Amino acid sequence: MVVKDEKSKLIVYISMTLDGYITDKDESIGYLSEYNSEDYDYDSFLNTIDTVIVGKNTYNKVIEMGFEYPHKNKDVYIISESIINNIGNFKLYSGSLKKLVVKLKKSSLKNIYCDGGSHIISQLLSDNLVDEIIVTIIPVLLNGGLKLFTGSYNAAKLKHLKTRTFLNGLVQNHYTVIK
Ligand SMILES: NC(=O)c1ccc[n+]([C@@H]2O[C@H](COP(=O)([O-])OP(=O)(O)OC[C@H]3O[C@@H](n4cnc5c(N)ncnc54)[C@H](OP(=O)(O)O)[C@@H]3O)[C@@H](O)[C@H]2O)c1
Repeated sequence: MVVKDEKSKLIVYISMTLDGYITDKDESIGYLSEYNSEDYDYDSFLNTIDTVIVGKNTYNKVIEMGFEYPHKNKDVYIISESIINNIGNFKLYSGSLKKLVVKLKKSSLKNIYCDGGSHIISQLLSDNLVDEIIVTIIPVLLNGGLKLFTGSYNAAKLKHLKTRTFLNGLVQNHYTVIK
């Protein structure tokens, strides 16, 4: 049993276009391809987390693109009702997302990274479980695709923590969700 002074935070770390999309109209993430040369502080963010929650569609997209899902050194939960077996060290989870996150906030030693996608994020917002949002704005308008904030979710107020700008025009905003 791990005893901590503070609960772990659940952090959404994601990129979106200026008009709010996380995928192109064809559900790809091609709009991101020309921005892959820098890590935008992703590695130092990864050092602050030990647990990853990812929706099945986001996981599948990585595999479809011919990559392995990263984060092998983290505790990874793939959220799915249609996949039943664990994949390697990754755990398949199909129960209540709220129960899982409440448990992980107590047991994780570091913070919890929500890797998306929109369906998972809206559920977490609906249950008031998101503590911070780090969103990197890509200077592109797509006029279609999957919105970062979609479906039903709780209204929330955010406090701006910091903004980083990058030479290629990306702007990374870091917010905490006021509870
Ligand atoms: N721009 C970025 O930085 C970024 C980041 C992340 C993702 N993306 C993109 O976003 C797209 C995927 O997002 P998405 O919103 O469509 O999908 P998603 O949130 O990744 O996954 C949704 C799927 O997760 C499962 N699921 C959701 N809630 C569940 C629950 N409570 N219990 C059990 N299973 C649950 C369901 O799959 P089952 O049918 O298996 O139950 C559902 O279809 C991909 O194209 C990805 O590339 C972009």
